[in-house]
Amino acid sequence: MPESVTGFAPGRVNLIGEHTDYNEGLALPFAISEGVTVRAEQIDGDRMEAVATDLRRNDSFELARPSGARGWRAFVRGAVAELQEAGVPLRAARVEISGDVPRGGGLSSSAALEVALTLALIALSGSPEPDRIELAKLCSRIENDWVGAQTGLLDQLASLLGEDDHALRIDFRSLEITQVPLELGEFKLVTLHSGDRHSNAASGYNERRRECALAAEELGVPSLRDATLEAAAALPSPLDRRAKHIITENQRVDAAVAALEHGDMDELGRLLDASHASLRDCYEVSTPAVEGAVEKLRSAGALGARIIGGGFGGHVLGLMPPGAHVPERAREVRPGPGARMMD
Ligand code: GLA
Repeated sequence: MPESVTGFAPGRVNLIGEHTDYNEGLALPFAISEGVTVRAEQIDGDRMEAVATDLRRNDSFELARPSGARGWRAFVRGAVAELQEAGVPLRAARVEISGDVPRGGGLSSSAALEVALTLALIALSGSPEPDRIELAKLCSRIENDWVGAQTGLLDQLASLLGEDDHALRIDFRSLEITQVPLELGEFKLVTLHSGDRHSNAASGYNERRRECALAAEELGVPSLRDATLEAAAALPSPLDRRAKHIITENQRVDAAVAALEHGDMDELGRLLDASHASLRDCYEVSTPAVEGAVEKLRSAGALGARIIGGGFGGHVLGLMPPGAHVPERAREVRPGPGARMMD
């Protein structure tokens, strides 16, 4: 059995398909090169020691009985508890966490942390790596039950199953995943922070999720994946707008896959803009700072720009044509490989 291991999990950018994951819909994310690294080293005794290097904070708790905590500690305790619940024979360890994906910025630092932690702890236990879709579900339980954010599976699947130069078309009903080549040539995808920090748990994310469940119930369908625009239009406000966003966003995901297949970047830009307008007007998850950041990318010549992730702040994404001047502080993002062990 190894004495120490190092796991790395990337953050993600969602090209299109926002808030569709918990509605059994479609999304098109890709893993980025920034992420979270977890080094786990076996120690004597029956306690877990954790160090968040960038935050200069630590934690210590009983391996057999992790109790709840707040912030980054909830992720570590939740990972230990959920892995043991799933039958992984964890050993006492010291885990060191560091990362270069901005926290709370819509680039999925949370999923990167869950995935890097679980991969490292599983490897240190000497157990074989589980099926990655099952591991994504386990990571999502950490976030739902230990951190208190009722998020879906988008981020974990992107972090675990990303591939170089590809986006993943995910069907959240069947969990069928198709790798879609993301060949941009001279075009660039860039992210720009809006200046508003967001927090999924504290924001309206959970409220949006409840509204979608209510809309589906009122329509008498298992999820909004089955809803039609005609039926959605008859729902009371704001459920009518929430449902309209989900239905049209699913359509935009497949339109984006087709645009990529044809190398039609103008069309991809139009779809990003349409997604943003829908997230702003129907889903109401934009903020003035986000609008400012989207505007900045558009004035720099972006073919399309939109808010990404849960919303209420964080990063925006822009598609820049060849030769366009990328605004200061905007950073290019490229599709990279998914989570992996580094040893
Ligand atoms: C956050 C959640 C995801 C997904 C997106 C919105 O990133 O963690 O599950 O719902 O918001 O698409």
